[in-house]
Amino acid sequence: MNLPRHVKIVEVGPRDGLQNEPKSLPAAAKIELINRLSTTGLKVIEAGSFVSPRWVPQMADTQEVLENITVYPNIRYPVLAPNLQGFQAAVAAGAQEVAVFTAASETFTQKNTNCSLAESLLRIDAIIAAAKSQQIPVRAYISCVLGCPYEGAVDVQKVVELATYLFNQGCYEISLGDTIGVGTPHKAQQLITAVIKKIPIEHIAIHFHDTYGQALANIYACLALGISTIDSSIAGLGGCPYAKGAAGNVATEDVIYMLQGLGIETGVDLTKLVAID
Ligand code: HMG
Ligand code: MG
Repeated sequence: MNLPRHVKIVEVGPRDGLQNEPKSLPAAAKIELINRLSTTGLKVIEAGSFVSPRWVPQMADTQEVLENITVYPNIRYPVLAPNLQGFQAAVAAGAQEVAVFTAASETFTQKNTNCSLAESLLRIDAIIAAAKSQQIPVRAYISCVLGCPYEGAVDVQKVVELATYLFNQGCYEISLGDTIGVGTPHKAQQLITAVIKKIPIEHIAIHFHDTYGQALANIYACLALGISTIDSSIAGLGGCPYAKGAAGNVATEDVIYMLQGLGIETGVDLTKLVAID
């Protein structure tokens, strides 16, 4: 067992959580949620996404949200950008970090971003080039790493290849997304073992949705390999509108509770976290 002593939590609730709520929350409620999350000790809070409002209306007010949250100097507030247009809008709204996304599945990429996987990488290349010129760090997500809602099983080597590409292009962290929560602990370990042969483990994050109640077990299996960055969502909110059946992300409070029990530091105050309602 190679459990880390410290884990960084990437809180994705205000983005991954709220993008999938049947009704859009008013911007004021999102702003309050992010402001309260900022007082819990979290160091990274994904604040929204600059995607097409026709595709994800729930995120249409991200500009207003980003412009009105209280920005703490020691907290990062990344936002998702699907293309250069989204990146430019994010920067104009004051984003200091962006996250790009693609998938280890051709069909999912089409359904989620209306382009081929190859085209999605070209869009990402364009964002990375623009971000580099402005010293903006870029995080990358790969969806469907343990299974696709349209294509089923996903080849581990495909994920390794994509992760390596994104890392070599300059993404500082690669988040491996089990978008529909089909992973189980040994499969998660096989994936991480293959990826960390190519990329230093400190640059890998895990992102589990909890469709079949496997997320905590999967996280524990990955922690045992030394993974120390975990994406999670307050109250287990979440899902992807273009992945049928994708349930919420693993709940941040459950992850913190488990990590505390394992003696792993996160810097997050569980009492403050669960008081957010
Ligand atoms: P498209 O319709 O092919 O775009 O969508 P287009 O380039 O043909 O442009 C059409 C119109 O969209 C134009 O407007 C553009 O201006 C506008 P019009 O001239 O018709 O008025 N447009 C935009 N507007 C605002 N922001 C933009 C933007 N780009 C174009 N950035 C597009 C292509 C990629 C934009 C669309 O498919 C899209 O927004 N997809 C995002 C879907 C999404 O957000 N999914 C959820 C996030 S991923 C996820 O949840 C998984 C993750 O959690 C990890 C995991 O769990 O696996 C990260
Ligand atoms: Mg997700």
